[in-house]
Amino acid sequence: MRILAIETSCDDTSAAVVQDGRQVLSNVISSQIDFHQKFGGVVPEIASRKHLEAVELVIQEALDRAEMAFDNVDGIGVTYGPGLIGALLVGLSSAKAIALAIDKPLIGVHHIEGHISANYIADQSLTPPFLCLVVSGGHTYIVEVEDYCKYRIIGKTHDDAAGEAFDKVARTLGLGYPGGPAIEKRAALGRAIIEFPKPVIRDHPYDFSFSGLKTAVLNYINTARQKGQGIPVEDIAASFQKAVVDVLVDKAINAALEYNIGTIAVAGGVAANVVLKETMDETCRRNGLRFIHPQPILCTDNAAMIGSAAFFKWQRGYISDLFLNAEANIPL
Ligand code: KG4
Ligand code: ZN
Repeated sequence: MRILAIETSCDDTSAAVVQDGRQVLSNVISSQIDFHQKFGGVVPEIASRKHLEAVELVIQEALDRAEMAFDNVDGIGVTYGPGLIGALLVGLSSAKAIALAIDKPLIGVHHIEGHISANYIADQSLTPPFLCLVVSGGHTYIVEVEDYCKYRIIGKTHDDAAGEAFDKVARTLGLGYPGGPAIEKRAALGRAIIEFPKPVIRDHPYDFSFSGLKTAVLNYINTARQKGQGIPVEDIAASFQKAVVDVLVDKAINAALEYNIGTIAVAGGVAANVVLKETMDETCRRNGLRFIHPQPILCTDNAAMIGSAAFFKWQRGYISDLFLNAEANIPL
């Protein structure tokens, strides 16, 4: 089963061909970052227009790299939400048009289901059940993947997503967009010597809150400014990153141990962070847990992960019709 997959939920136009949910035959990603950078974040209207310009070329490139024509495609997978509505509509409309033209099944995929499925590509032997720490720009979850396409949310954020916290702190430090990679780069030059708070949410041991941490960083900077001191950007970046990583790793590991799940996977843009990966790897090893980690290109937004999720949905009979609509917000 060779699935042509399309992902346009935010600021990357991506198309991929994935065979049987696990083999990536091509994965083309056209980034719009240059167009959004000067605004300090993604501008939805610009995102939609840039997707429109790129989508046909990106799809053709994905087919070319897989040495395929539309005739060889067995199904179309596409992100239908959550995300920016105009951006989603570009990918979804393209997917519907192709499905109709070649008379092959359309499979709508939840963006977070896609992120989680990147782990089926990263580890060909991975099968549910496993625990997945999902950390993207818009979502933070600890999810028990009970079976293919079957999820139970164990923990979630009460305010900012982990990636959102990276982006906001980076903006405060004047490091630009996207914030995650910028913070990671500066943190590598600093020391994690500033104690930022690690919020505890009473009665919800696996939930997260990052807005207090973001405010603590802001207060630290303001106090230093008021005292006429320099801003130790590298040390702040390293300390903030450590605070986020520690809380993510602690909660994911504790959840796996409590629920007796032997494998932890990670997903979403923040999972590309090397300190998160190394800390998780080491802590899993200490606790006798198996750790799965997709390569960075499969952590940030890409269509290969959508192609993988679409295959497992198709296998279980989840086929969409051509009335499928884009949704800005949908639960997992
Ligand atoms: O999954 P993703 O590509 O898009 C969404 O679905 O949101 O995640 C993007 C988020 C951004 O907030 C970005 O700053 C963060 O992931 N990110 C990182 C790193 N690379 C991307 N955060 C920390 N360290 C990184 N290396
Ligand atoms: Zn994403």
